[in-house]
Amino acid sequence: MPETHFDEWIAQHYHLLWPELFDPAFVEPTLDFLADLAGSGAALEFGIGTGRIAIPLSQRGVSIHGIELSHPMIAQLQAQQGAANVGVTLGDFATTSVDVDILAADFLLPFQRAIVARRLLIG
Ligand SMILES: C[S@@+](CC[C@H](N)C(=O)[O-])C[C@H]1O[C@@H](n2cnc3c(N)ncnc32)[C@H](O)[C@@H]1O
Repeated sequence: MPETHFDEWIAQHYHLLWPELFDPAFVEPTLDFLADLAGSGAALEFGIGTGRIAIPLSQRGVSIHGIELSHPMIAQLQAQQGAANVGVTLGDFATTSVDVDILAADFLLPFQRAIVARRLLIG
């Protein structure tokens, strides 16, 4: 599996390091867009992290699953209220498969975007 830089310390401080990402003015339109896109389908987040988007999205009734490389990020997600409704698979999103209808990914480096594009094109 590839390395991740999202270690224990970053996982614990994620919300303090990038507080602007948690600003409702930023999060709410994202949730509106994704909930609309998902409709009654299931969503997959590549690099679900601490569940910043996934947990509130699931609270809007969207069935969501994430693929995540970092154990500590998953631990932060699973420590939160509402986490029981969010599925998570530990793995590399370049190679890990789950059965869902839409994809959501953010903060991807260019090479990661290429992986996502390739998976969208050839499955
Ligand atoms: C900047 S964080 C974003 C987390 C979350 N999507 C959010 O919006 O808050 C990027 C996440 O992607 C994960 N990640 C990076 N490369 C990955 C890969 N190849 N497979 C699975 N997860 C990966 C990292 O461990 C990290 O948790």
